[in-house]
Amino acid sequence: MKVHSTIDNVMNKKYLYIIGVFAILSALQGCYYDIEEELYPTNGGNCDTAAVTYSGTIQTILNESCNSCHSAASAQGNVVLEGFNLLKVYVDDGSFLGAVSHGSGYSPMPKGGNKLSDCKISQIQTWIAAGAPNN
Ligand code: HEC
Repeated sequence: MKVHSTIDNVMNKKYLYIIGVFAILSALQGCYYDIEEELYPTNGGNCDTAAVTYSGTIQTILNESCNSCHSAASAQGNVVLEGFNLLKVYVDDGSFLGAVSHGSGYSPMPKGGNKLSDCKISQIQTWIAAGAPNN
C-alpha cells in the first residue's frame, strides 16, 4: 500500500511502534517463561531435578520403563541400555534424549507405552546437561 499523506505516515509509525512494543513484550515473556520452566518444571510441582544421578535417577527410569526391552538379554532393536558405557553411546549420539522426548527423527520410546513424565524427561535432560556423569 502506498503512503500518500503525512497523516498516513504518522499512523504507520504509530503502528510500527505498537508492533515493536508487542514484539519486545512477547520476547521478554518468552525469556521469562523459559526460565520459569527451568526453575519450576510443570509436572505436579514436585519434580526433583537438583539431585539427579546416574545410579539413583537414570537407572531407576531405565529399569522401570526401558530395560524390559533394552537389557543385555533382550536387546530389542540391538539397543542395550544396561550399564553406563552402553547407555553412554546413546547419550552421545543424541538418540537417548531424542527417543524419550519423542524428537523428530527418533523412534519414540518407550515403544508401545506412554511417554515418560515431564519430570523424568527433565531429569534426563538435567543429567545429560551436566555431562552425563557416572555418579
Ligand atoms: C516394548 C519394547 C521397548 C521398550 C519398553 C523400550 N524400547 Fe527402545 N526400542 C525398542 C525397539 C524395538 C527399538 C528399535 C527401533 C524401533 O523398532 O522403533 C528401540 C530403539 C530404541 C533406541 C534407538 C532409537 C533411534 O531412533 O535410534 C533408543 C535410544 C531407545 N530405544 C531407547 C529406549 C528408552 C530410553 C526406553 C525407555 C524410556 C525404551 N527405549 C523403551 C523397543 C523398546
